Amino acid sequence: MRILVTGGTGYIGSHTIIELYAKGYEVDIVDNLFNSKITTLDKIEKITGKRPGFYEVDLRDAENLDKVFAENKYDLVIHFAGLKAVGESVGKPLEYYENNIGGTTNLLKCMRKYGVHKIIFSSSATVYGDPGNPKYVETMETGRGLTNPYGKTKYMIEEILKDCTVADPEFQVTLLRYFNPIGNHPSGEIGEDPNGIPNNLMPVIMKVARGEIKELLIYGNDYPTPDGTCLRDYIHVVDLAKGHVAAIAKMEPGVSIYNLGSGKTSSVFDMIHAFETASGEKLPTKIAPRRDGDLPEFYADPSKAERELNWHTELTIEDAMRDTIRFLKNES
Ligand code: NAD
Ligand code: UFG
Repeated sequence: MRILVTGGTGYIGSHTIIELYAKGYEVDIVDNLFNSKITTLDKIEKITGKRPGFYEVDLRDAENLDKVFAENKYDLVIHFAGLKAVGESVGKPLEYYENNIGGTTNLLKCMRKYGVHKIIFSSSATVYGDPGNPKYVETMETGRGLTNPYGKTKYMIEEILKDCTVADPEFQVTLLRYFNPIGNHPSGEIGEDPNGIPNNLMPVIMKVARGEIKELLIYGNDYPTPDGTCLRDYIHVVDLAKGHVAAIAKMEPGVSIYNLGSGKTSSVFDMIHAFETASGEKLPTKIAPRRDGDLPEFYADPSKAERELNWHTELTIEDAMRDTIRFLKNES
């Protein structure tokens, strides 16, 4: 089976490609390198012995994207490419809608033209908005209470993909709703390395550990949780990558939706302690006001993925911290 991976030089895409190669799939990448580096291809090759075909193409560039489909016959697309910074999206809504939604509709037009019927899409727990219950189940309503353009693009793309399955009964869509991805490949060769100032907790912890940020601001210690900081369902990126491979085998016409999370929560303090234990070093921290839009707690009900995909997380936050430290040591 030949797979086109959009955003394949990025964080989750590159880890997924390693797992796809482990199962014998053939892979090409389309990425505009906006938030990733071409050297990721060397690292994938070092780990797996295989090098993906690579097209430096922006999904918004319909003409060059068409050429990729004209030159190759794909069985499936895994669609990671997109902008993902929640805070930035509030100030740049048009860029987010154009890139994430415009890029996706171009991709879908090519798939239709060249008869590619299967797509797996990187969605997010953010589509649940604020449902009033911290345990998110796939059957819950989505789209209500979304507070930022990034989250809205995920919701809108889910809806666009659902509409495509109505228009074309052959079309097969799998929506994977990720919880909080962390960690990196145990080799320490590849990992999350975002350009600019990160929003997410782990990349900020990494920048503090490197001395690029003075201290970790803990956004609120007065939430109604056991230690006062927010609870999240952190998932090791290797487990997340394996979730994509598990989803391929189960694709069928229409829409299938799966939460990819552990079902367990950790607080901001738990994450700091786990990092400090793994590294043997203390992280400078400071309590700061709450961040707008943060919910005290949310986590996956992962039972559908367990039941239907025979998939569950195997790695812990301690594994993620160990692998993160290996990645940090590797780059220095
Ligand atoms: P990433 O930024 O590391 O990877 C995305 C890749 O897409 C990058 O390599 C970037 O250069 C590329 N890209 C962006 N716009 C493009 C375009 N128009 N044309 C071609 N390439 C383009 O991000 P990631 O963490 O690997 O996330 C992958 C997907 O998973 C994204 O869609 C993201 O929204 C989603 N997701 C991520 C998280 C998370 O916390 N990392 C959580 C939920 C969902
Ligand atoms: N946090 C800090 N300091 C930081 C960064 C984060 O204390 O410098 C805290 C946050 O307040 C939150 C926790 O760490 O309590 C996790 O924050 P992240 O930004 O890593 O993750 P979120 O759960 O807020 O966001 C994630 C995804 C988004 C998605 C959202 C809702 O990154 O894409 O879940 O599903 F929109």
